[in-house]
Amino acid sequence: MRLPQKVLSLTPYAPVTEICRIRCDANESCFPLPSALWDTAVKRMEEQAEANRYPDPYASACCKAAAKKYGIHPEQVVAGNGSDELISLIENSFLEPGGCVATIEPDFSMYGFYADLAGLRHVRIPKGEDLRINPGAVTAALEREQADLLIFSNPCNPTSLVLPAAEVERIVRSTRALVVVDEAYMEFADESVLGLVGELENLIVLKTCSKAAGLASARVGFAAGPEELIRVLYSVKSPYNVNAFSQILAQTVLEAPGYVEDCAKKLRAYTAGLYVGICALAADFPESVGTVYPTSTNFVYFEAKEPEKIRRALLRRSIAVRAMPGHDAPMGHLRVSTARLEENEEVLAALLDALKEGV
Ligand SMILES: Cc1ncc(COP(=O)(O)O)c(C=O)c1O
Repeated sequence: MRLPQKVLSLTPYAPVTEICRIRCDANESCFPLPSALWDTAVKRMEEQAEANRYPDPYASACCKAAAKKYGIHPEQVVAGNGSDELISLIENSFLEPGGCVATIEPDFSMYGFYADLAGLRHVRIPKGEDLRINPGAVTAALEREQADLLIFSNPCNPTSLVLPAAEVERIVRSTRALVVVDEAYMEFADESVLGLVGELENLIVLKTCSKAAGLASARVGFAAGPEELIRVLYSVKSPYNVNAFSQILAQTVLEAPGYVEDCAKKLRAYTAGLYVGICALAADFPESVGTVYPTSTNFVYFEAKEPEKIRRALLRRSIAVRAMPGHDAPMGHLRVSTARLEENEEVLAALLDALKEGV
């Protein structure tokens, strides 16, 4: 069999495979699930789930919990095997062959990955030099390129910057393209456009349980949008895409009063401390560390002259961070997710040592 060139050139996703003591590479929550919530979930599993039966294809209870939390109707939400699955489903099924997906670069790499895999035309709209989104430039590019779909993260992974909700709304209102706003990190900022779901026909908002809710292992994400579009997602998804235990875990966490909000609040405070520490390093080592971007997420993104060398220096101390090469630019970037307070101290000390050693 001859496989298409587009898949032959791909390499499997390569996460950090080393088991690190301190994991700051994937923007997960550093909080383990409290035992009381585990207990509730296990009890529900024993009472409700039948191991020999397929799970609820509509993930009804967990979608209901999500709808309540997000202030929307249950008919306006569908659950996915992580928001990642929903990104893939939207890009694969909402466009005609040869349709055009626009992204605003740099952004979460999976948007472009699925667009390429689906054989779509992919237009990369650049951010400004400050890595912020310029809504006017985005609107103009969508019009010029006749884009069918715009997808971007807000707050953004990797930049950690957030675009005010009013600006997002301006973009959505200015285009006929479907706009997918990925709010994976919005629990750490206050600029959600979930309130516009249903009002704007061309808006879908993606949410995930993998970040502030601390359930990355369960792989549960949601798409919120007009009922008509959500119905389409129900028709194109595989029937049992979210397993029974993940549905119960997500429902349990989303229903726990104030739990996600408390976690987000703590993670915001921890990230603020990490940001201050990294800014201090930037001031002390201006040759090696450049701009530290303000953070609206649970991670800090900053310029570094030798990101890969720093990553490896930290790995030797069993600390995982994400390095992004600068290619032709004088500096690349590092992305460091917050860990717990005492762990952040270790991360900062390791960064200091690496910089002192001249990397
Ligand atoms: C912006 C953004 N969207 C989506 C995802 C994927 O989330 P999930 O775990 O729900 O698939 C991530 C994960 O890092 C992300 O950063």
